[in-house]
Amino acid sequence: MAEFTLPANSKVHDGKKWPSPEGAKRTKNFKIYRWDPDTGANPRVDTYTLDLDKTAPMVLDALIKIKNETDSTLTFRRSCREGVCGSCAMNIDGTNTLACTKPIAECEGDVKIYPLPHMPVVKDLVPDLTQAYAQLRSIEPWLKSETPPPDRERLQSPEERAKLDGMWECILCFSCTTSCPSYWWNGDRYLGPAVLLQAYRWIADSRDEATGERLDNLEDPFRLYRCHTIMNCTKTCPKGLNPAKAIAEIKKLMVARK
Ligand code: SF4
Ligand code: FES
Repeated sequence: MAEFTLPANSKVHDGKKWPSPEGAKRTKNFKIYRWDPDTGANPRVDTYTLDLDKTAPMVLDALIKIKNETDSTLTFRRSCREGVCGSCAMNIDGTNTLACTKPIAECEGDVKIYPLPHMPVVKDLVPDLTQAYAQLRSIEPWLKSETPPPDRERLQSPEERAKLDGMWECILCFSCTTSCPSYWWNGDRYLGPAVLLQAYRWIADSRDEATGERLDNLEDPFRLYRCHTIMNCTKTCPKGLNPAKAIAEIKKLMVARK
Protein backbone atom coordinates (compact mmCIF):
# COMPACT_ATOMS: atom_id res chain seq x y z
CA MET A 1 0.00 0.00 0.00
CA ALA A 2 1.29 3.48 -0.86
CA GLU A 3 2.42 5.43 2.16
CA PHE A 4 2.19 9.20 2.09
CA THR A 5 4.30 11.30 4.37
CA LEU A 6 5.47 14.88 4.67
CA PRO A 7 8.95 15.82 3.40
CA ALA A 8 11.46 15.51 6.26
CA ASN A 9 11.90 19.27 6.60
CA SER A 10 8.13 19.85 6.88
CA LYS A 11 7.50 17.51 9.80
CA VAL A 12 6.31 19.43 12.84
CA HIS A 13 8.22 18.51 15.99
CA ASP A 14 7.39 18.97 19.66
CA GLY A 15 8.92 22.24 20.78
CA LYS A 16 9.76 24.01 24.00
CA LYS A 17 7.55 23.93 27.06
CA TRP A 18 7.04 27.10 29.04
CA PRO A 19 5.55 26.20 32.46
CA SER A 20 2.87 28.16 34.28
CA PRO A 21 3.93 30.79 36.80
CA GLU A 22 4.24 29.62 40.38
CA GLY A 23 1.02 29.66 42.37
CA ALA A 24 -1.25 29.65 39.31
CA LYS A 25 -4.55 27.93 40.13
CA ARG A 26 -6.45 28.07 36.81
CA THR A 27 -4.08 27.21 33.97
CA LYS A 28 -4.43 26.51 30.26
CA ASN A 29 -1.97 25.26 27.66
CA PHE A 30 -1.51 27.16 24.41
CA LYS A 31 0.12 24.98 21.75
CA ILE A 32 1.49 27.32 19.13
CA TYR A 33 3.07 26.62 15.74
CA ARG A 34 6.56 28.06 15.47
CA TRP A 35 8.76 28.32 12.40
CA ASP A 36 11.70 30.61 11.82
CA PRO A 37 13.08 30.68 8.25
CA ASP A 38 16.42 32.00 9.53
CA THR A 39 17.27 28.89 11.55
CA GLY A 40 16.64 26.24 8.88
CA ALA A 41 15.07 24.07 11.61
CA ASN A 42 11.81 22.16 11.20
CA PRO A 43 8.59 23.74 12.40
CA ARG A 44 7.72 22.92 15.98
CA VAL A 45 4.83 23.37 18.39
CA ASP A 46 5.72 25.20 21.59
CA THR A 47 3.53 24.84 24.67
CA TYR A 48 2.94 27.88 26.87
CA THR A 49 1.00 27.40 30.10
CA LEU A 50 -0.78 30.57 31.21
CA ASP A 51 -2.52 31.56 34.42
CA LEU A 52 -6.07 32.29 33.26
CA ASP A 53 -6.68 34.45 36.32
CA LYS A 54 -4.03 36.83 34.95
CA THR A 55 -4.93 36.61 31.25
CA ALA A 56 -7.53 38.76 29.47
CA PRO A 57 -10.36 36.83 27.76
CA MET A 58 -9.48 36.56 24.08
CA VAL A 59 -6.93 34.32 22.34
CA LEU A 60 -5.15 37.42 21.05
CA ASP A 61 -4.79 38.61 24.67
CA ALA A 62 -3.02 35.33 25.45
CA LEU A 63 -0.67 35.72 22.46
CA ILE A 64 0.18 39.29 23.46
CA LYS A 65 0.78 38.19 27.07
CA ILE A 66 3.12 35.42 25.91
CA LYS A 67 5.03 37.83 23.66
CA ASN A 68 5.29 40.52 26.35
CA GLU A 69 6.09 38.33 29.34
CA THR A 70 7.42 34.93 28.22
CA ASP A 71 8.81 34.71 24.71
CA SER A 72 9.36 37.87 22.69
CA THR A 73 10.27 35.84 19.59
CA LEU A 74 6.67 34.72 19.04
CA THR A 75 5.50 36.41 15.84
CA PHE A 76 1.93 37.19 14.76
CA ARG A 77 -0.02 40.00 13.09
CA ARG A 78 -2.56 42.14 14.88
CA SER A 79 -3.67 45.71 14.82
CA CYS A 80 -7.20 46.78 15.78
CA ARG A 81 -8.02 44.20 18.50
CA GLU A 82 -11.65 44.82 17.55
CA GLY A 83 -12.39 42.43 14.65
CA VAL A 84 -12.19 45.14 12.00
CA CYS A 85 -8.69 45.02 10.47
CA GLY A 86 -8.52 41.31 9.62
CA SER A 87 -4.84 41.01 10.44
CA CYS A 88 -5.07 38.52 13.34
CA ALA A 89 -6.73 35.74 11.29
CA MET A 90 -5.28 32.34 12.17
CA ASN A 91 -6.35 28.74 12.73
CA ILE A 92 -7.51 28.24 16.31
CA ASP A 93 -8.71 24.82 17.42
CA GLY A 94 -9.02 23.71 13.81
CA THR A 95 -11.07 26.68 12.58
CA ASN A 96 -9.93 29.80 10.79
CA THR A 97 -11.01 32.81 12.81
CA LEU A 98 -9.88 36.11 14.36
CA ALA A 99 -7.74 35.74 17.49
CA CYS A 100 -9.05 39.04 18.85
CA THR A 101 -12.71 37.98 18.82
CA LYS A 102 -12.20 34.33 19.80
CA PRO A 103 -12.78 33.84 23.55
CA ILE A 104 -10.33 31.49 25.27
CA ALA A 105 -13.34 30.10 27.15
CA GLU A 106 -14.73 28.70 23.87
CA CYS A 107 -11.65 26.47 23.44
CA GLU A 108 -11.97 23.11 25.13
CA GLY A 109 -8.75 21.60 26.45
CA ASP A 110 -5.46 22.89 25.05
CA VAL A 111 -5.72 25.83 22.64
CA LYS A 112 -4.05 24.85 19.36
CA ILE A 113 -2.95 27.78 17.23
CA TYR A 114 -1.60 27.54 13.67
CA PRO A 115 -1.23 30.01 10.81
CA LEU A 116 -3.98 30.17 8.16
CA PRO A 117 -3.72 26.84 6.29
CA HIS A 118 -2.20 26.20 2.88
CA MET A 119 -0.43 29.52 2.61
CA PRO A 120 3.35 29.98 2.65
CA VAL A 121 4.49 31.00 6.12
CA VAL A 122 6.62 34.09 6.66
CA LYS A 123 7.29 33.26 10.31
CA ASP A 124 5.32 31.53 13.11
CA LEU A 125 1.66 32.62 12.74
CA VAL A 126 2.22 35.05 9.85
CA PRO A 127 1.03 33.78 6.45
CA ASP A 128 2.34 35.23 3.21
CA LEU A 129 -0.70 36.91 1.59
CA THR A 130 1.16 38.25 -1.46
CA GLN A 131 -0.76 36.09 -3.91
CA ALA A 132 -4.13 36.78 -2.29
CA TYR A 133 -3.57 40.54 -2.54
CA ALA A 134 -2.43 40.22 -6.17
CA GLN A 135 -5.69 38.37 -6.87
CA LEU A 136 -7.64 41.12 -5.13
CA ARG A 137 -5.90 43.70 -7.32
CA SER A 138 -6.86 41.69 -10.42
CA ILE A 139 -10.59 42.27 -9.85
CA GLU A 140 -10.00 46.06 -9.66
CA PRO A 141 -11.85 46.69 -6.39
CA TRP A 142 -12.76 50.31 -6.97
CA LEU A 143 -15.65 52.24 -8.54
CA LYS A 144 -15.49 52.38 -12.35
CA SER A 145 -17.77 54.86 -14.07
CA GLU A 146 -17.79 56.73 -17.39
CA THR A 147 -20.43 59.16 -16.16
CA PRO A 148 -18.80 62.45 -15.15
CA PRO A 149 -18.84 62.79 -11.37
CA PRO A 150 -21.69 64.90 -9.96
CA ASP A 151 -21.00 68.00 -7.87
CA ARG A 152 -21.78 66.05 -4.73
CA GLU A 153 -21.84 62.31 -3.95
CA ARG A 154 -23.19 59.65 -6.37
CA LEU A 155 -26.63 58.87 -4.98
CA GLN A 156 -28.19 55.47 -4.38
CA SER A 157 -31.71 54.55 -3.33
CA PRO A 158 -32.02 52.74 0.00
CA GLU A 159 -32.80 49.54 -1.96
CA GLU A 160 -29.65 49.90 -4.10
CA ARG A 161 -27.58 50.55 -1.00
CA ALA A 162 -29.09 47.52 0.76
CA LYS A 163 -27.68 45.26 -1.97
CA LEU A 164 -24.20 45.92 -0.58
CA ASP A 165 -25.09 44.65 2.89
CA GLY A 166 -23.27 41.44 3.67
CA MET A 167 -20.32 42.54 1.52
CA TRP A 168 -19.09 45.92 2.72
CA GLU A 169 -18.51 44.33 6.12
CA CYS A 170 -15.79 42.04 4.74
CA ILE A 171 -12.46 42.81 6.44
CA LEU A 172 -10.33 40.77 4.02
CA CYS A 173 -9.02 38.44 6.69
CA PHE A 174 -8.85 35.54 4.15
CA SER A 175 -10.21 33.05 6.72
CA CYS A 176 -12.70 31.93 4.06
CA THR A 177 -10.22 31.62 1.21
CA THR A 178 -7.79 29.57 3.26
CA SER A 179 -10.56 27.22 4.44
CA CYS A 180 -11.51 26.32 0.85
CA PRO A 181 -10.22 23.00 -0.58
CA SER A 182 -10.58 24.35 -4.13
CA TYR A 183 -8.28 27.21 -3.16
CA TRP A 184 -5.85 24.81 -1.47
CA TRP A 185 -5.42 22.82 -4.68
CA ASN A 186 -5.83 25.59 -7.29
CA GLY A 187 -4.99 28.79 -5.45
CA ASP A 188 -2.70 29.91 -8.26
CA ARG A 189 -5.67 30.14 -10.67
CA TYR A 190 -8.88 30.12 -8.59
CA LEU A 191 -9.58 33.53 -7.00
CA GLY A 192 -11.12 32.11 -3.83
CA PRO A 193 -14.15 33.27 -1.84
CA ALA A 194 -12.77 36.49 -0.32
CA VAL A 195 -11.77 37.97 -3.67
CA LEU A 196 -14.96 36.78 -5.39
CA LEU A 197 -17.06 38.37 -2.65
CA GLN A 198 -15.20 41.61 -3.33
CA ALA A 199 -15.79 41.18 -7.07
CA TYR A 200 -19.53 40.85 -6.48
CA ARG A 201 -19.49 43.83 -4.12
CA TRP A 202 -18.58 46.03 -7.14
CA ILE A 203 -20.82 44.17 -9.61
CA ALA A 204 -23.78 44.74 -7.27
CA ASP A 205 -23.01 48.44 -6.78
CA SER A 206 -25.57 50.56 -8.68
CA ARG A 207 -22.99 53.33 -9.15
CA ASP A 208 -20.51 51.07 -10.94
CA GLU A 209 -20.74 50.96 -14.75
CA ALA A 210 -18.26 48.17 -15.51
CA THR A 211 -20.43 45.11 -14.84
CA GLY A 212 -19.86 43.57 -18.30
CA GLU A 213 -16.11 44.07 -18.08
CA ARG A 214 -16.05 42.65 -14.54
CA LEU A 215 -17.99 39.54 -15.61
CA ASP A 216 -15.70 39.09 -18.64
CA ASN A 217 -12.77 39.14 -16.24
CA LEU A 218 -14.29 36.26 -14.23
CA GLU A 219 -15.48 34.13 -17.19
CA ASP A 220 -12.87 31.44 -16.79
CA PRO A 221 -12.90 27.75 -15.79
CA PHE A 222 -10.60 28.48 -12.86
CA ARG A 223 -10.99 32.09 -11.64
CA LEU A 224 -14.70 31.65 -10.81
CA TYR A 225 -15.82 28.14 -11.67
CA ARG A 226 -13.40 26.28 -9.37
CA CYS A 227 -15.96 27.06 -6.67
CA HIS A 228 -17.74 23.76 -6.07
CA THR A 229 -20.08 25.11 -3.35
CA ILE A 230 -18.27 23.28 -0.57
CA MET A 231 -19.41 26.07 1.80
CA ASN A 232 -16.39 26.02 4.15
CA CYS A 233 -16.07 29.75 3.41
CA THR A 234 -19.48 30.65 4.79
CA LYS A 235 -19.11 28.31 7.75
CA THR A 236 -15.81 29.83 8.85
CA CYS A 237 -16.31 33.57 8.19
CA PRO A 238 -15.75 35.27 11.57
CA LYS A 239 -17.91 38.22 10.45
CA GLY A 240 -20.90 35.98 9.67
CA LEU A 241 -20.82 36.78 5.93
CA ASN A 242 -21.79 34.47 3.10
CA PRO A 243 -19.15 34.45 0.35
CA ALA A 244 -20.71 31.31 -1.18
CA LYS A 245 -23.90 33.30 -1.87
CA ALA A 246 -21.92 36.10 -3.52
CA ILE A 247 -20.21 33.53 -5.77
CA ALA A 248 -23.61 32.01 -6.63
CA GLU A 249 -24.92 35.48 -7.56
CA ILE A 250 -22.00 35.97 -9.97
CA LYS A 251 -22.70 32.56 -11.55
CA LYS A 252 -26.39 33.52 -11.96
CA LEU A 253 -25.40 36.73 -13.74
CA MET A 254 -23.11 34.74 -16.04
CA VAL A 255 -26.04 32.52 -17.02
CA ALA A 256 -28.45 35.45 -17.37
CA ARG A 257 -26.26 37.35 -19.80
CA LYS A 258 -26.01 34.34 -22.09
S1 SF4 B 1 -15.83 37.02 3.70
FE1 SF4 B 1 -15.49 36.80 5.91
S2 SF4 B 1 -13.83 35.27 6.09
FE2 SF4 B 1 -13.82 36.01 3.98
S3 SF4 B 1 -12.30 37.65 3.97
FE3 SF4 B 1 -14.32 38.62 4.29
S4 SF4 B 1 -14.54 38.74 6.53
FE4 SF4 B 1 -12.85 37.30 6.15
S1 FES C 1 -6.56 42.56 15.42
FE1 FES C 1 -7.84 43.43 13.86
S2 FES C 1 -9.22 41.85 13.38
FE2 FES C 1 -8.09 41.04 15.04
